[in-house]
Amino acid sequence: MNSIKHVAIIMDGNGRWGVKHKKSRNLGHKEGLKTVEKIIKSSIKNKIRYLTLYAFSTENWKRPKKEINFLFNLLENFLINKISELNKQNIKLKIIGKKRFSKKINQLLNKSEKKTLKNKRLQINLALNYGSKSELLQSFNFVCKNKKKINEKNISKYLFTQNIPDPDILIRTGNTQRLSNFLLWQLAYSEIFFEKKLWPDFTENDYNRILNKFKRIKRNYGNI
Ligand code: IPE
Ligand code: IPE
Ligand code: MG
Repeated sequence: MNSIKHVAIIMDGNGRWGVKHKKSRNLGHKEGLKTVEKIIKSSIKNKIRYLTLYAFSTENWKRPKKEINFLFNLLENFLINKISELNKQNIKLKIIGKKRFSKKINQLLNKSEKKTLKNKRLQINLALNYGSKSELLQSFNFVCKNKKKINEKNISKYLFTQNIPDPDILIRTGNTQRLSNFLLWQLAYSEIFFEKKLWPDFTENDYNRILNKFKRIKRNYGNI
C-alpha cells in the first residue's frame, strides 16, 4: 500500500456553488472555507504530513475587485480567529507564492508563519498569489545568477516547495480538468483525481474515498 505524505488540492467551484445556492459567488467562498476546515481535520486524522491548498493564483487578479477584496477579508478573518487554534494543534502554516499584498495582510501572514514555524504535525502550504511558471522562472534565474549547475536538484531547491516532498496526490474539485498553473514541476508523478463536486460540497467521505483509492494504485515511475 502506498503511504501518503503530501496532498495538494485545487479548491475549485466556490463561485458556482454560491450562485447556485445563495445567488452570490462570494457566499460560495465563505462556504468553501468550511470545507477547508474539514479537510485539515481529516488530514490530521489520516496522518498526512503536508497539505497544499491553492487559494489564489497569479491569474486570479483578473477577477472583479469586489471578489478579490472579499477573498482577502475572508483570509484575514480566518487567520486572526484561527491561528492560535492551528498552533495548538501543532500545525505549521507556510505561504507559497509571492507575498505582494497590502501591508496589513503581509504582516499577518508573516506573523502566522512565525508563530507556527516549529510545528510538526501537519504543514499547510497555502498557495497565495501563486503561479507555477513564475515560481519556475524565479528558480531558474536564481540558479543562473549564482552560477550553479542547472539540474533537477538545484531547480527544486529554489522553488517555494524546497525541502517538501512532491505531492503524492492532486485533487481538483469543480468538474474542471486542468492544472491552472499549479505546481507544474512538483506534480510530475502525482496521482491526479478530478472531482465533479464543487468545493463547498466536497466532504470528508469524498476525501477518504480518494485517499483509499490512492493507497492501492501501482505507481510505476516509468518502471513496470
Ligand atoms: C475557487 O473557486 C476559489 C478561487 C479561485 C479563489 P472559484 O471562485 O474559481 O469558483 P468557480 O470555478 O468560479 O465556481
Ligand atoms: C484555480 O481555479 C485557482 C484556485 C483554485 C485558487 P480557477 O477557477 O482560478 O482556475 P481557472 O481560471 O478556471 O483555470
Ligand atoms: Mg474556478
